[in-house]
Amino acid sequence: MKAVEIKPNIFCVGAIDEAVRDFHGYVTPNGTTYNNYLILDKQVTLIDTVKHGFARITINNISSLIEPSKIVNVIINHIEPDHAGSIDRIMALTPQATIYITERGKKGLDRHFDTSRWKFKIVKTGDTLNIGKYTLLFIETPMLHWPDSMMTYVKEAKLLISQDAFGQHYATSARFDDEFVTCESMAQLEDSVIDYYANILMPFGQLIKAKISEIQKLGLEIDMIAPDHGIVWRQNSQKVLNMYLDMANGKAELRIVIIYDTMWHSTERMTIPITDGIRDEGVDCKIIKLRATPMSVAIKEFWKSRACLIGSPTLNNVMFPSVAEFLTHLGGLRPKNRLVGAFGSYGWGGGAVKEAYEEFKKMGLEIFEPGLQVMYRPSSEDETKCYEFGKEFAKKVKEYHQRF
Ligand code: FEO
Repeated sequence: MKAVEIKPNIFCVGAIDEAVRDFHGYVTPNGTTYNNYLILDKQVTLIDTVKHGFARITINNISSLIEPSKIVNVIINHIEPDHAGSIDRIMALTPQATIYITERGKKGLDRHFDTSRWKFKIVKTGDTLNIGKYTLLFIETPMLHWPDSMMTYVKEAKLLISQDAFGQHYATSARFDDEFVTCESMAQLEDSVIDYYANILMPFGQLIKAKISEIQKLGLEIDMIAPDHGIVWRQNSQKVLNMYLDMANGKAELRIVIIYDTMWHSTERMTIPITDGIRDEGVDCKIIKLRATPMSVAIKEFWKSRACLIGSPTLNNVMFPSVAEFLTHLGGLRPKNRLVGAFGSYGWGGGAVKEAYEEFKKMGLEIFEPGLQVMYRPSSEDETKCYEFGKEFAKKVKEYHQRF
């Protein structure tokens, strides 16, 4: 990716990572980008860096516009290594520059780098920096999604540089949302926004609502949002803000996702009549087999759906390991506003369904009880029970969905 001007004298100078397919356990079938921004003003200012292995690309992009030693200010919005990982390479080229960062950002950076030679200015919400024609306003966003996080608003450009928020793991030569011209490609882009939110930001819905409200109270005019991953929102900045508000308020599709695993196909067989029952109630149903699906995709499908049925065989009196792993991961994301139930096959003692409900209770989710257990392989009588279980669950989901 070459440097691309997104506003007058403001350039995206980041890198495209076409090859990454595993982003700390999060599957990225479309790769990602590491966006950072260079402002050519009286004081040349760089906002964020890139993942360490991509330093050469951003340095080349900066050098295509200006000698890097002329950078006076380096803003670090977020210290996670995919954004601050090249700070040492940048500071080696412009050692006199001042780093603007939150207090917690500085503490984190100290743990990753030898920062003793660098100049810092600690900033907090409301602090501004005039760099010539442009004025930068800093907005702390703690726990969105790390304690250090902040955003930088470029007042005269009506531009919000939002670090991870509003980002997408989407490698593309397009730099702007309005370059996604077909409905299909825009739908794919929006799906990437949901995927990102579900896997990174799901725990922070209340904070997101509060932060968007705070930004609105500040009366900031925003006509462009430039995140640190994926495309820049030039035409749909309000739309992506509303998408975030909707997700923070628990928006989901009237749909049930069955997330299951199976040992000898008995639990898998149960999914067929359960799905028939759900669909006969007019509710869409998506099926995810855990060992055939990356965890982050299962999380996204959970988040998109109003309700979820977990299917697990019993192994040694507890859940099947892949199901237990999924529920542990889901619990950490603190899901809300979803209805859940469980089913599964067992050989003798049982235990998986009971354990799944214990996990649901820990998460504080709305629960559909009782769950359904079948001994060994489902008989035709059991299949009728599965069908009825699916129908009853779907009826409950339709009622529950009306609350939102
Ligand atoms: Fe893209 Fe929180 O790092």
